[in-house]
Amino acid sequence: MKGVILDCLKNLVSTNYGTEKWLKVLTVAGLPASQPILATSDFDDKVAINLIHATCQVLNISMPQAAEAFGDLWMNNYASKIYAAYLTNIKSSRELLLKLDSIHTRVTNTMPNAKPPRFVYQWKNDHTLIMTYSSKRELIDLFMGLAKSVAKYYKDNLIVRKLSNNQIEIIFS
Ligand code: HEM
Repeated sequence: MKGVILDCLKNLVSTNYGTEKWLKVLTVAGLPASQPILATSDFDDKVAINLIHATCQVLNISMPQAAEAFGDLWMNNYASKIYAAYLTNIKSSRELLLKLDSIHTRVTNTMPNAKPPRFVYQWKNDHTLIMTYSSKRELIDLFMGLAKSVAKYYKDNLIVRKLSNNQIEIIFS
């Protein structure tokens, strides 16, 4: 997993709950307190997933709660700054979600060892989109949390529902 995700996770914990909590997360995940988290580094997927689970444990929040808090920070303060170029012409959650697959392939195109999640689209009717997520990391809750944050970011009223471990349903109003 690319360090950007873990750097954003670290920012979430240390900014909202304090540096001490982040050190605790590292310890619970079995890492040394001195473990650097660089946006440019690559992390073993197992280490990344351990850090996500340790965050839930230390903050005493569920995975969906952590995912939505992560998504809010990612949309408002992280991707919107470091990946601004990919978001400038996007004016709605519908547009962003429909471009999600191509954004991930474009962003990671030049990153060695990237294995971005892939997204396939299927319209059930005019307002209802089924998105199929595929990634060996199996982070459907993270996907859900981010999709909800996208709706908040664009102030759109969406209903986001998990259908299975690889599909979510989005109803646009
Ligand atoms: C400008 C916006 C975005 C950019 C530039 C971006 C970029 C990235 C990058 C670089 C990774 C790491 C990939 C790797 O380690 O191989 C990643 C992971 C991920 N992204 Fe995004 N992302 C964006 C928005 C979103 C949104 C809005 C969603 C969901 C609605 C999403 C879902 C995910 C998930 C679930 C992962 C975790 C990795 C996995 O499941 O395999 N991303 N993204």
